[in-house]
Amino acid sequence: MNNVVVVGSQWGDEGKGKITDFLACSADVVVRSQGGNNAGHTISFGGKKFALQSIPSGIFNPNIKNVMANGMVINPKAMLEELKGLEERGITKYQIFISNRAHIIMPYHILLDGAYESLKKDNKIGTTKKGIGPCYADKANRIGIRVADFINEDSFKKCLENTLPIKNRELESLGIAPLNLMDIFNEYKEYAKKIKPYVCDTSILLEEEIEKNSKILFEGAQGCMLCLDHGTYPYVTSSSPTASSVPLNCGIAPSYINKVLGVAKAYNTRVGEGPFPTEIHDELGSYIRERGHEYGTVTKRPRRVGWFDSVVLNHTRRVSGINYLAIMLFDVLSGLDKVKICRAYELDGKEINYIPASLDEYARCKPIYIELDGWKEDITNVHSYDELPQNAKNYLKKIEELTKTKIAMISVGPDRMQTMVLHDMFE
Ligand code: GDP
Ligand code: IMO
Ligand code: MG
Repeated sequence: MNNVVVVGSQWGDEGKGKITDFLACSADVVVRSQGGNNAGHTISFGGKKFALQSIPSGIFNPNIKNVMANGMVINPKAMLEELKGLEERGITKYQIFISNRAHIIMPYHILLDGAYESLKKDNKIGTTKKGIGPCYADKANRIGIRVADFINEDSFKKCLENTLPIKNRELESLGIAPLNLMDIFNEYKEYAKKIKPYVCDTSILLEEEIEKNSKILFEGAQGCMLCLDHGTYPYVTSSSPTASSVPLNCGIAPSYINKVLGVAKAYNTRVGEGPFPTEIHDELGSYIRERGHEYGTVTKRPRRVGWFDSVVLNHTRRVSGINYLAIMLFDVLSGLDKVKICRAYELDGKEINYIPASLDEYARCKPIYIELDGWKEDITNVHSYDELPQNAKNYLKKIEELTKTKIAMISVGPDRMQTMVLHDMFE
């Protein structure tokens, strides 16, 4: 079977875009299966840097089929702007296939996302305010608008007539002016015309590709610790970024999913609110933030920085079936006297090695660290594992030991070329 699922194994922004782009060099199909334009995937090659939000990272290769599957929520206006931006930078030949069962993010979703956040005050989640949560909520509530209905003017109008009165009541109750149906319809039907040529049944397309033995890459968005089911609820996103969600979100057989690459930073970051046991609050945190340019791709917010946490990794390995790791931003740790890895937590005087479901308990967890000697050498030009300083190798070995997972790839810089392969994922 020729497929690889790329999942974020921490709280997002692990470098999934970079790894997907790298692996896409030998893939036929790249699939985004969940989330929407809350994602920000950075890709650097040939001196150019791109930040993709809802478009799959195979877009730079005209031979790759880029699938936006049924589990995604798509803001058509933002997606068309993203495409226009790519075209302006010379990416004019591409293949995109949008699932007719994906859901559409509407303007009221974005307004509601912002309003809920303001209402929650100190308990806010710190969402990207892209309307992701309200759109998935409407899907579950069966008042969402699917792509198949969106691209048919009559159905789109009927959907709006059904949904907008409900949403307007919600908006008004939050002190926001109601939206005008015809204004939305007239604006959005134009976007619908533009996306219609890309729309198809992507489950059928993927089955055909599987039968052809094509190499398929599933590009996760967010990270497993932001999973609606297995993450630090409620400080999570509204979809499941785990590999287990891929079959449902793409309309393919679960038996097809067996190679899962967990992408992990050599340390740890988080944007938005919620517990983060290994967070570094002193100047060392700022030092790593600056070295790693840890500012959100989408919201530009400074990311919270912490040490590598093997309790988190073992949790995400288990819930997502991760069988290989890609260790990212390894270059950022050069220059430190000591580096730390969290091996367990202390909760109320007891040592534990799992993530408590209760957030109060999780917030009380204190990391128990293993401290290792750091390395001073700049490793951004290292191209093979053997060339790495011994202390850097010791650090990687400790990660493998604590996470019970083999490292398949090591990244030492943002560029496509700054990538070491220890195991070929498509083998
Ligand atoms: P994603 O959301 O998982 O695709 O990750 P983001 O693109 O949001 O964030 C990862 C950031 O790290 C981006 O700015 C990348 O260009 C950068 N990056 C990726 N790999 C490396 C690496 O090995 N070293 C350094 N220094 N930066 C990297
Ligand atoms: P990529 O794919 C990091 C976080 C938000 C917030 C929470 C809920 O680039 O790794 P949402 O807008 O989804 O309702 O926000 O999830 N979040 C991300 N954090 N990387 C992402 O995507 C994220 N997508 C959402 O910061 O804490
Ligand atoms: Mg990101």
